[in-house]
Amino acid sequence: MAINFVLNGETRSEETVSPTRTVLEYLREDARLTGTKEGCAEGDCGACTVVMVRNGTDETVAVNSCLLTMGQLDGADLVTVEGLSEEDGTLEAVQQAVVDEDGTQCGFCTPGFVMALHALRRSDETVTEDVIHDALAGNLCRCTGYRSIVAAARAACAQPVGDDALDVSDITASEHVSVDDQLFLAPANLADLVASRVAHPDAPLLSGGTDLGLRFSKERESYPVVIFTQNVAELKQVAEDDAALTIGAAVTYTEVLARIEDLYPSFATLIHRIGSRQIRNVGTIGGNIGNASPIGDTPPCLIALDATLVLHGSKGGREIPLESYFLDYRKTDLAGYEVIASVRVPKLTDGQVFRSYKISKRYDQDISAVVGAFRLTIEDGVVTDARIAFGGMAAIPKRAAACEAALVGQTWSEEAARQAGAAVGEDFAPIDDHRASADYRLRVASNLFVRLYRDLDGASDVEVMAL
Ligand SMILES: Cc1cc2nc3c(=O)[nH]c(=O)nc-3n(C[C@H](O)[C@H](O)[C@H](O)COP(=O)(O)OP(=O)(O)OC[C@H]3O[C@@H](n4cnc5c(N)ncnc54)[C@H](O)[C@@H]3O)c2cc1C
Ligand code: FES
Ligand code: FES
Repeated sequence: MAINFVLNGETRSEETVSPTRTVLEYLREDARLTGTKEGCAEGDCGACTVVMVRNGTDETVAVNSCLLTMGQLDGADLVTVEGLSEEDGTLEAVQQAVVDEDGTQCGFCTPGFVMALHALRRSDETVTEDVIHDALAGNLCRCTGYRSIVAAARAACAQPVGDDALDVSDITASEHVSVDDQLFLAPANLADLVASRVAHPDAPLLSGGTDLGLRFSKERESYPVVIFTQNVAELKQVAEDDAALTIGAAVTYTEVLARIEDLYPSFATLIHRIGSRQIRNVGTIGGNIGNASPIGDTPPCLIALDATLVLHGSKGGREIPLESYFLDYRKTDLAGYEVIASVRVPKLTDGQVFRSYKISKRYDQDISAVVGAFRLTIEDGVVTDARIAFGGMAAIPKRAAACEAALVGQTWSEEAARQAGAAVGEDFAPIDDHRASADYRLRVASNLFVRLYRDLDGASDVEVMAL
């Protein structure tokens, strides 16, 4: 089967393009649509931003074409900067606003900004200053300066979309794409996903591709078979009952953010800082867990929240505590015949509080040096239960057992928080790397206990504490 999609309103059927070729390469080199630019080729600069309406939805999202593979485009609608203006040359509202507000100089970044704002203008979000900044956090401009770009965003988003609405096609995805000796499997249900996994145990599972895409774009790795999880109906479910929120492994951050915001606001604040909108529009919690990085942002939070992982394989399903999933550096409990199906996150009960903190060099678009996540149960002023987990402090995301023991049974006070923080050195022996030194990691993790106390106490100033 060929890769079928709609590009700027025109249906395309590509029979010879590799499903692991990046969409950016395809656009620039095959389709000769060179308005979409290549800056970093790793999801950091936004120059390659395009707008996609995913298979089976009417959601218009901005994505980085440098990380997206052609296989992921099967059944989707794609709009590039060339697809915006009218045939008579009339500019689309965002383009016109960029011209009117002098929002461009060298112009290299401009198509990416225009496409990020094109997606924002078409979303049903209330466009505030914060939302504009969030929508542009994944786009770098080196010469214009953001003031005029933000002014263009305000002006364009103030105009009603009206007849500008995207005409979404009814093109559908196929369950496999086969080009030369490459197979791109896109099963539609869990049983077929597991069957594909068993038949091709060495094939990578591709969800959003924001980790895996780098292997195709930067490392230029080629795989005979890739298994795509985004079309698996069961993996796209979000379910809520009295006790827990269950998130399918292929649900994107954007798709689940509102539910997380309601139940665990501090976790949602942290998710807002994972990459950029372009990354969160395709990246998934399933991929963040599957990647098994010691600096992935969600695992420490989910471990502190006592989440369990539902795995499915040819021998049936099993549910395990997330904390026991990570065995050693990039080694997990996932068997070769299994996939992650969902993660089940218990709701907070009376007396429980949850906070998570991400420490990185920049606020937006940066990988963590340390993530600290805390779920405390405080009854009559006494800590009766503590689940505390850190990322960036060990080869795997891990609980801080000594810190927890130091807290439980204590009256909740700044002094108790400091004493628990002082136990961080018993739990972890972090490494030095280019993100942070071991000493910094220990110090900041310890200080997060004071921050937690003051945060829960309503105080905003956080003084640096000497170890
Ligand atoms: C510019 C940029 C910024 C980023 N910023 C952050 C950040 O701030 N914080 C952070 O934590 N991460 C960050 N990341 C990493 C990445 O976005 C996240 O890890 C994301 O959650 C990965 O999800 P995905 O769906 O894209 O995974 P994919 O890339 O599709 O897959 C990741 C891994 O998970 C495996 N996998 C996927 N689905 C399953 C499944 N169902 N069962 C078993 N294994 C599976 C894959 O085989 C692969 O090994 C960033 C990446 C980029 C490019
Ligand atoms: S080229 Fe930089 S984000 Fe894609
Ligand atoms: S206009 Fe030059 S980088 Fe933005």
